[in-house]
Amino acid sequence: MINYLYVLPIRSVNRVVRVTIIESKELVKTYDTGSVRVEALKGVDLNISKGEMVAIMGPSGCGKTTLLNCLSGLDDVTSGKVFVEGKDITELGDNEKTVYRAHHMGFIFQFYNLLPVLTAVENVELPLLVSGIRPAEARKKAEKALDMVGLKGWEEHRPAELSGGQRQRTTIARALVNDPKIVFADEPTGDLDTETSNEVMDVMCRLNRENGQTFLIVTHDPKVGERAHRIIKMDSGLIKVDENNPAACSARPPDDEDAKRTEDAKPGKRPRPKMKKR
Ligand SMILES: Nc1ncnc2c1ncn2[C@@H]1O[C@H](COP(=O)(O)OP(=O)(O)O)[C@@H](O)[C@H]1O
Ligand SMILES: [Mg+2]
Repeated sequence: MINYLYVLPIRSVNRVVRVTIIESKELVKTYDTGSVRVEALKGVDLNISKGEMVAIMGPSGCGKTTLLNCLSGLDDVTSGKVFVEGKDITELGDNEKTVYRAHHMGFIFQFYNLLPVLTAVENVELPLLVSGIRPAEARKKAEKALDMVGLKGWEEHRPAELSGGQRQRTTIARALVNDPKIVFADEPTGDLDTETSNEVMDVMCRLNRENGQTFLIVTHDPKVGERAHRIIKMDSGLIKVDENNPAACSARPPDDEDAKRTEDAKPGKRPRPKMKKR
């Protein structure tokens, strides 16, 4: 009897509060080139929580890139809805979407997309300069982002003078320079060897853990998948498997910050429970 009285209130204090950051409802994307019609997404329902690190896997051509592009508003949907922080992005105009992306989203692609004539710091500050931030402030932010990915001292090097891992870390710095809430990565380790791929994943896991940023990573690499909180497997334009990965290297996603602060302040706090299977 005494045990019940004692345990129940503590359990309720440790409840997990999830905050949805991206949601899709019956998301359909059909490419129609006139002669060929491809149903790339056939009705995807998805709910991503703030701070999750999600791996999206599946065979080539199953719709992974299309899904990222539709969730980020890079591509228009054919039907269905995509909500980002509760805002229906399918209703936004191109300019509004571009501005939203510039402020809230970061992108990392397989091929570095770094400009060879610019130094690392110039590549990283470019998106800030394009969005109108003062050069001195842009430089400061770019240097800080390079420092975050372990590239302090490499600011003045051009891409050709950097290793594959350093180049990809430069693109991560560029994706993070505007402090985005969501980072979309499409095969970020696709052409890297195992060691370099681990190095890049170490950086992404650390940033997810420390900054609480949400990561959506498309990957073929099971080793990358192993390090995500959650693995979504797609096939033929549909989600076939969606499971949590309790063995992930990075800490569980943060709960709602306000709830966490209130709960952390309470006495008798126990360690947070591990993630449950959905
Ligand atoms: N711009 C496009 N025009 C026509 N078909 C496309 C286009 N982009 C992708 N597709 C088709 O949509 C399907 C899904 O592609 P994609 O999302 O790139 O797959 P994945 O990233 O899983 O390899 C494929 O059949 C692909 O050929
Ligand atoms: Mg792809």
